[in-house]
Amino acid sequence: MSNIGWFTLGDLKLREEPQRDSCFRVVRDDTEMEEHPKNTDIGRREMLHRHMSNEITSLDIAAQCLVDFPEAPWGLRMELARQCWDETRHVLVLWRRLRELGGTKGEFPISTFEWCITSAINDIAGRLATQNRTFEAGAMDIVAQLIRIVRNDLHDEETAFVLEGILADEVQHVRFANRWIRRLAAEDKRVLMRVAGAVRFLSVVNSRMQAKAGAVDAAGHVFESPEERIPSVNIEDRKLAEFSDDEIREILIQAGFRTLIPENTAETLR
Ligand SMILES: [Fe+2]
Ligand SMILES: [Fe+2]
Repeated sequence: MSNIGWFTLGDLKLREEPQRDSCFRVVRDDTEMEEHPKNTDIGRREMLHRHMSNEITSLDIAAQCLVDFPEAPWGLRMELARQCWDETRHVLVLWRRLRELGGTKGEFPISTFEWCITSAINDIAGRLATQNRTFEAGAMDIVAQLIRIVRNDLHDEETAFVLEGILADEVQHVRFANRWIRRLAAEDKRVLMRVAGAVRFLSVVNSRMQAKAGAVDAAGHVFESPEERIPSVNIEDRKLAEFSDDEIREILIQAGFRTLIPENTAETLR
């Protein structure tokens, strides 16, 4: 592991935030972020800025995996290296769109909590389960929803086009993680224990770090309960990313869509 520092959250140890350009103000608490209504100019810029920042963090996490796990299989290292290139492109297209809309980097506070959590895990399968299979898969759900809002409500075809290009790459980042976790677990059953440990760690950190329902951020945005914050599940892309029907069923249940799921999900999802 590299020599980036740590901080504690109760009895949990998390990685300190990575370096950012001096123009950025990095915050740790959700309530210090600024979420504006998406149907305003400032809201659209903040959405792009937040997304751009998350892409920088995705790049950091994939690159740090290459540094921390030199003994990982070559095929997996190649996937991570390609992911670094994809995330770099995502940063650049979002930055370009942000500038086209009159925004600048550093215009809004940013958070790097995905890094703080994922990079605290000292196992490659655990990191893939956390970053790619959870955060990026969650991002697939969010981006699919954003594309609909941007296109249908804001009539901003250019931003929708940018997000569609990013989403196509994210499917591959989730898919290669799913494939490699399965492959590593087939070779060594202890991998499943490490993945389960990482997912448990993530859920405990999330429950402590997430803003509580009713909390207000720096732009006056009121947080809903964690359950209400879950976006609609992007079933189509999750299938492309090789989540099994049972896994998608479980995600739908977690997202509160239990009553919409007939008994035989496998047939419904086909
Ligand atoms: Fe990305
Ligand atoms: Fe990604």
